[in-house]
Amino acid sequence: MPFEVVPTGAAVGAEISGLDVRALDDATFSALRQAWLEHKVLLFRGQDLTDDDLVTFAGRFGALDLAPASATDDVGAQEKSRPEVWIISNVVEEGKPIGALGSDEAEWHTDMSYVDEPPMASVLYSLEIPPAGGDTSFANMELALAELPADLRARIEGRTANHDSSYTSVGELRKGAAPVTDVTRAPGARHPVIRTHPETGVPSLYLGRRRNGWIVDMDVADNEALLDALWAHCADPRFAWTHQWRTGDLLIWDNRSLNHRRDAFDPASRRVMHRCQIKGDVPR
Ligand code: SIN
Repeated sequence: MPFEVVPTGAAVGAEISGLDVRALDDATFSALRQAWLEHKVLLFRGQDLTDDDLVTFAGRFGALDLAPASATDDVGAQEKSRPEVWIISNVVEEGKPIGALGSDEAEWHTDMSYVDEPPMASVLYSLEIPPAGGDTSFANMELALAELPADLRARIEGRTANHDSSYTSVGELRKGAAPVTDVTRAPGARHPVIRTHPETGVPSLYLGRRRNGWIVDMDVADNEALLDALWAHCADPRFAWTHQWRTGDLLIWDNRSLNHRRDAFDPASRRVMHRCQIKGDVPR
């Protein structure tokens, strides 16, 4: 194969070296896809991509979803050339944010689990990176499930959870959404708390994000205590790997078996990322 796979040594992730993702023949792509299923996050350094290149690369893995709803209207509309591209940025130009999610911490989550068919993968490309902060961490939810204490596992076996659609991972209310005052009535989508990866058959914890999560039919106080315990377990550093970005980095990660989060960074510095999301199916 014309590339090398260098595992991070942590619970997830590998760097792929020696590859320009703009030039992938079918055999190379097939080997890359296998490496992605094995390591769950792949890192490619030093890429030089237009939005068309990004969409073409992401589109090799499957059909693309459109960008998710942001907190304000037309975020980034003026900056991107493709509707499949979602801009993540704190930069404000002429009084308008060019992207979503600002510079605050983005909490642990898996992308767009508040829809019935969440994207199976996300692809994130860095155009501008702050001098410090803004690192992105990934946590292996297959490992988190495998190491879940038996008493916690017994309480989620066969259960379904509602994944609230109202707030972004930085806690902003999405455009058109109402504040959630009762988790049992939050909008969103319902998915099994333990899902099975449709390609590898490996089960994992599928919690979406902590805010307004509800294990369906559970008493609210019990729900809050159980979710706190599950999320505390998932945040254990032994399940995770943290990526420190450089300009030109490209990541692709598997939303079916990973959570991710982003560190805050100095709002006075610039961070500009372009993301695509690859369609998935109903979690089972
Ligand atoms: C995200 O896709 O949740 C954002 C990750 C990041 O900004 O690094």
